[in-house]
Amino acid sequence: MAKATFKAAQIPKSNFFNYLVKCLMALAIWLLLFSLVYLNTQLNLFSVGDRFLYLLGIALLLAMLIIAGGTYLFLLDYHDFSRNKNLFLIALSVFLTAVFFEICVLTPLNIYAIPIAGMSILLVLLLNLNASLIVTLFLSLLFGLVVQGRLDLFLVIFLGGTVGAIAARNARRRSQLLGAGVFVGFFNFMIISFFGFFKGAPPAQFLKESLWGFGGGLLSSFLVTGFLPVFEILFNITTNITLLELSDLNNPLLKELIIKAPGTYHHSLIVGNLAEAACDAISANSLLARIGAYYHDIGKLNKPEYFSENESGESKSRHVDLKPTMSSLIITNHVKDGVDSAKKHKLPDSIIDFIEQHHGTGLIYYFYQRALEKTEDEDQLKEEYFRYPGPKPQTKETAVVLLADAVEASTRALSDATPAKIKTLTQKIINNKFIDGQLDECELSLRDLNRISECFIKILTGIFHTRVEYPRIAGSGA
Ligand SMILES: [Fe+2]
Ligand SMILES: [Fe+2]
Repeated sequence: MAKATFKAAQIPKSNFFNYLVKCLMALAIWLLLFSLVYLNTQLNLFSVGDRFLYLLGIALLLAMLIIAGGTYLFLLDYHDFSRNKNLFLIALSVFLTAVFFEICVLTPLNIYAIPIAGMSILLVLLLNLNASLIVTLFLSLLFGLVVQGRLDLFLVIFLGGTVGAIAARNARRRSQLLGAGVFVGFFNFMIISFFGFFKGAPPAQFLKESLWGFGGGLLSSFLVTGFLPVFEILFNITTNITLLELSDLNNPLLKELIIKAPGTYHHSLIVGNLAEAACDAISANSLLARIGAYYHDIGKLNKPEYFSENESGESKSRHVDLKPTMSSLIITNHVKDGVDSAKKHKLPDSIIDFIEQHHGTGLIYYFYQRALEKTEDEDQLKEEYFRYPGPKPQTKETAVVLLADAVEASTRALSDATPAKIKTLTQKIINNKFIDGQLDECELSLRDLNRISECFIKILTGIFHTRVEYPRIAGSGA
């Protein structure tokens, strides 16, 4: 189970097509940026000495930057950057920034108004901080070099982008994007002013440039707010902002769950709380896990009364008169029905993953046992009829929801839930899932499992622990 933490060591052999796409992508970025430099030298926008040597130097520097940045990202975060979709996203954001750069150079707009921090914010929201910072460094170096090796321009672009990426990295509301823009603007204003003092330039001149820099920060946040939904749809990526919108309990699917399957709804909320706390403890995406948990059982809406949490105490279980294989079919089908319903309601793929993977390929032990008791020929009874179709959890977040789901359901069934019983049961369930191989395809370590278990025990004890009955005092009503 102990998996190597350095992901590069696990790089499988990628196929030829994948390498080809990556090389073409790098070549496209190189060509785009080089043509931008070439265009500027042809237009004589920046005076350079020997034009041929200048272009050769820039061409080689660009190639080095792309190879170094690409290798760094690939080794650091193999799982993210082996996806061609993410590379295309980086290429598109570089392209858009280059276009804005060109607009600023060719029009009376000041060069400090380039909304490059917008690209940094966009990448931190859609990918991660590493990708955002490395591309920001790459572009600020390039733009600083192109405009006659200006260190001040490099620093303004790099620091502005870094501040923007850090300020927006945990943004959950659109208003926070505007806040990040103001922050970038303020930083730009200060750095440009400091350089003005440093160079002894007249205050009227550098204050004007500082204001352009402030405008660049604001423009960045406006552009991100406008472009973000387009990028989310285009690349099928769910940002924290969209996730938070999905947590609105007025969402039609959640509303339907409250009315048709109140037990499942309540179960989903508790699973959400458990998963959120556990993901926080292991530094996984807790918001994604919570929202994934809210929707993980929407497939039960088709036949809510066949699931124990929605059965009322008085009426007999619907499964009493059914064959165990039929019961198993109805239960396992809630995964498939959930995926269909999620697709119909246009839920993002990252949420559909939770619906698909929250049982992994787990065995429905109860019905399997009943079938074994009833059958005369045990060899004919295949275990796979009683297993969920899978796949097994592929991410830390879906694995945590699988564990939270199993632990919550079992703890609820405990007749006398003492802290000791909750602890034993939680550890037993997590161990069983591990032994059954359900956690084989995600990246949870044994230390993570320990932390998850501690978190679950603490929360479940608070929720389910049966209260000690105090002896009644004669005459008191409560
Ligand atoms: Fe389920
Ligand atoms: Fe569930």
